[in-house]
Amino acid sequence: SAAEKGGFEWFMLKEIDEQPSAVADTLRGRHSPGGLLQLDEMRISDTELREVDKIIVIACGTSFYAAMVAKYAIEHWTRTPCEVELASEFRYRDPILNKSTLVVTISQSGETMDTLMAIRYARQQRARVLSICNTNGSTIPRESDAVIYTHAGPEVAVASTKGFLAQVVACYLLALYIAQVKGMKYGDEIDGILAEIGRIPDGIQRMLDEGDQMRKLATELAGSRSILFLGRHVGYPVALEGALKLKELAYIHAEGFAAGELKHGPIAVIEQGLPVFVIVPPKGRDQLQEKTVSNIQEIRARGARTIVLAEDGDEDVVPYADHLIRLPKVPTLLQPLVSTVPLQIFAAEFASQLGHDVDQPRNLAKSVTVE
Ligand code: G6P
Repeated sequence: SAAEKGGFEWFMLKEIDEQPSAVADTLRGRHSPGGLLQLDEMRISDTELREVDKIIVIACGTSFYAAMVAKYAIEHWTRTPCEVELASEFRYRDPILNKSTLVVTISQSGETMDTLMAIRYARQQRARVLSICNTNGSTIPRESDAVIYTHAGPEVAVASTKGFLAQVVACYLLALYIAQVKGMKYGDEIDGILAEIGRIPDGIQRMLDEGDQMRKLATELAGSRSILFLGRHVGYPVALEGALKLKELAYIHAEGFAAGELKHGPIAVIEQGLPVFVIVPPKGRDQLQEKTVSNIQEIRARGARTIVLAEDGDEDVVPYADHLIRLPKVPTLLQPLVSTVPLQIFAAEFASQLGHDVDQPRNLAKSVTVE
């Protein structure tokens, strides 16, 4: 009913709107005054956690993109090698696991069959399993050694939005927790990083307040049959997620690429007027911003219509952006929490304008409980 949707046309729009609190609620209560992180159902001891020498993050769909973001945070903050894998591929490649392997699963529903099968397999191989999940008491957390619950609240729309942002936050918390337990230098910086994450809900709120620009853009691009997304570093999974949302909801061809791969294929499909979203990393680290700006120049020179997401004050992008979406200044690793939001709004609006059912896209299910 309209009341359940809180005045929004779709549950998805309501859930997009709830993201500042999904993030804040997922952070709440994890940080004790002494500065130490606390995780609710951490049935893995500190000693066991210190022995972890490899982390494998497993998930499906949008949760898999949260896993890709997690890899950057985990390796950066914990210096522990981290692999990311689709649950449906993991089991069948004879992965090397033992009791010093930590398998992390991410699932909004806690019922995705491929993910469940992957953790059963991992536990048989004596790996420890920690699940990040939004649904209390669901099967995946019940079968895991440890759980970090995301507190996004129930998600109704088939396409995940607030669930995703909450998962990304939970991944940061996990990475910081491991850094703390392992006594990494970032352990001392936890307070500062948590304070940065604590400011993110305001950044998300701003992206919501500026949502009209995405609605307008959806109208302008309404006839497009193909849309590309480019990103680097943690912007790469954001590009994949932007494309997935559009496929799921609008049923058009949409693809995300690592911007650095442009010359290895994607640039060949650029033609006059093709819309390409580019997520530009913050200035400062490893020339990521500069390299992405040259990618924008390259595609625009070949006729692409560029939709550029760049932080406040980044003037380098201005000459090459047909549309410019401003993002608040946040640390590189945290940027997905703000840059994903306009892409969600765009996909929902684009699909809505085509007359599609945004909450229940054709052929898709909220949780895939078969393999
Ligand atoms: C389905 C949903 C997606 C979700 C994926 C993984 O495909 O439509 O929105 O990301 O399953 O679901 P999970 O519950 O495991 O996160």
